[in-house]
Amino acid sequence: MLRFFIIICLVWSVSSDADEECHTFTKLSIHSAIAGTSLKVRLLLYMDDFTCAKILQSPFPTSFNATKKTTFIIHGYRPTGSQPVWLTELVKGLTRVEDINVIVVDWNRGATNVVYSTASGHTWRVAEILKETIDQMLASGASLDNIYMIGVSLGAHIAGFVGQMYDGKLGRITGLDPAGPLFSGKPPNERLDHTDAQFVDVIHSDTDLLGFKESLGNIDFYPNGGLDQPGCPQTIFGGLEYFKCDHQRSVFLYLSSLKKDCDIIAYPCESYRDYLNGKCISCGDDQLMPCPVLGYYADQWKNYSMLKDPPVTKAFFDTTSEKPFCIYHYFVDIMTWNKNIRRGYITIKLTDQTGNTTESRINHEPATFQKFQQVSLLARFPQDVDQVKGISLVFSTGPVIWSKYKLRIIWIKLRPITHPEKPQMCRYDLVLTENKETAFQPILC
Ligand SMILES: *[C@@H]1O[C@H](CO)[C@@H](O)[C@H](O)[C@H]1NC(C)=O
Ligand SMILES: *[C@@H]1O[C@H](CO)[C@@H](O)[C@H](O)[C@H]1NC(C)=O
Ligand SMILES: *[C@@H]1O[C@H](CO)[C@@H](O)[C@H](O)[C@H]1NC(C)=O
Repeated sequence: MLRFFIIICLVWSVSSDADEECHTFTKLSIHSAIAGTSLKVRLLLYMDDFTCAKILQSPFPTSFNATKKTTFIIHGYRPTGSQPVWLTELVKGLTRVEDINVIVVDWNRGATNVVYSTASGHTWRVAEILKETIDQMLASGASLDNIYMIGVSLGAHIAGFVGQMYDGKLGRITGLDPAGPLFSGKPPNERLDHTDAQFVDVIHSDTDLLGFKESLGNIDFYPNGGLDQPGCPQTIFGGLEYFKCDHQRSVFLYLSSLKKDCDIIAYPCESYRDYLNGKCISCGDDQLMPCPVLGYYADQWKNYSMLKDPPVTKAFFDTTSEKPFCIYHYFVDIMTWNKNIRRGYITIKLTDQTGNTTESRINHEPATFQKFQQVSLLARFPQDVDQVKGISLVFSTGPVIWSKYKLRIIWIKLRPITHPEKPQMCRYDLVLTENKETAFQPILC
């Protein structure tokens, strides 16, 4: 009997010490969602190898270096029990940009439930469990400054609760479309807010359905105004995508920032409309304040966000429908001399030397052209053109096909905003006939 017991102990200690095993995210199904799940939190720790997770529990694995920067990823509500589609890519992206510990907070048991309020009811408890682990990490030499939490949807509020438990001394929290339902209208201690960490950045991509509308961080990014994202289905006939596409876009935008194919630049502004009307394109050009960039590197803007009182900034920008999502901004300055006021829309197309073209329709609201008054329109292009060889313009007054009106242009100037080092392009003396494309070769201004 004793011999048997010793063998058991040996086998036990060998397997727990070495812990060669790789663990994966809890896989559940729709059946679990219907039956409901009770809360269980597993911490999946990724160190050098993003393909293999260890379970982080007390006592910590000897290979775990608690003094390193540590990033927690906290998912949200899981109506079907599946693993979040973006999870692997996010872990991989984070471990590649920096030598850090990445901890996936797997609370799939607890988040998986057809009843959203049951899942959201677990958020405070998840935060308490995380605090226990972080307390142990602090005892092992970690510092709150080096702790970063990325929370998606409900996960954003969990991160906020953890931050609150440490009086806002956590290094950083990023909220990716923080959950709106059951959190909107709640006081700051019952949701994520800017006092929960030294720096809180938030991306709002679905403010009319699953996301949170009001600003929550030191900087709040509103892609495409925060409501509907390009490329996402607009109707219920889009199926499941209709419900999650806008919401998930916040994560895909963040992922894109890790790849660094292009910087997603945002413009501090009071409203999306003011951004569209070109009223907020002042950062970046005086060199005093750069424009904030969305995503992983948003904390480079921390100092500038702290200059405001309270330290809260909203930033707006547009994106394309696919990664890397960047939009290229130009100002189109136009001086006209029509006797009567003309109201209408401008579509502008740029062509490079290889014949590639990119087009911007400035149609969110009609522009008003008055004699001898300069109008500056913000044009947003889905691609950048290396060297502008040709420009074409269309003027239209509405959803009509006639050619009733003319727009008499004294001069037009194209000013690159995203790449201000590029040359400005001009053209003098031009008459646009309504709904007719007018092409020309610009000259340097
Ligand atoms: C732990 O990480 C810190 C910070 O990156 C580093 O300076 C230290 O050498 C690491 N310790 C070990 C034992 O690898
Ligand atoms: C932010 O401010 C701190 C303290 O004033 C300064 O040390 C640091 O270099 C600044 N960082 C940036 C990115 O400007
Ligand atoms: C222009 O077109 C060529 C060929 O179609 C393509 O390879 C290139 O990436 C394009 N350039 C830009 C800036 O989009």
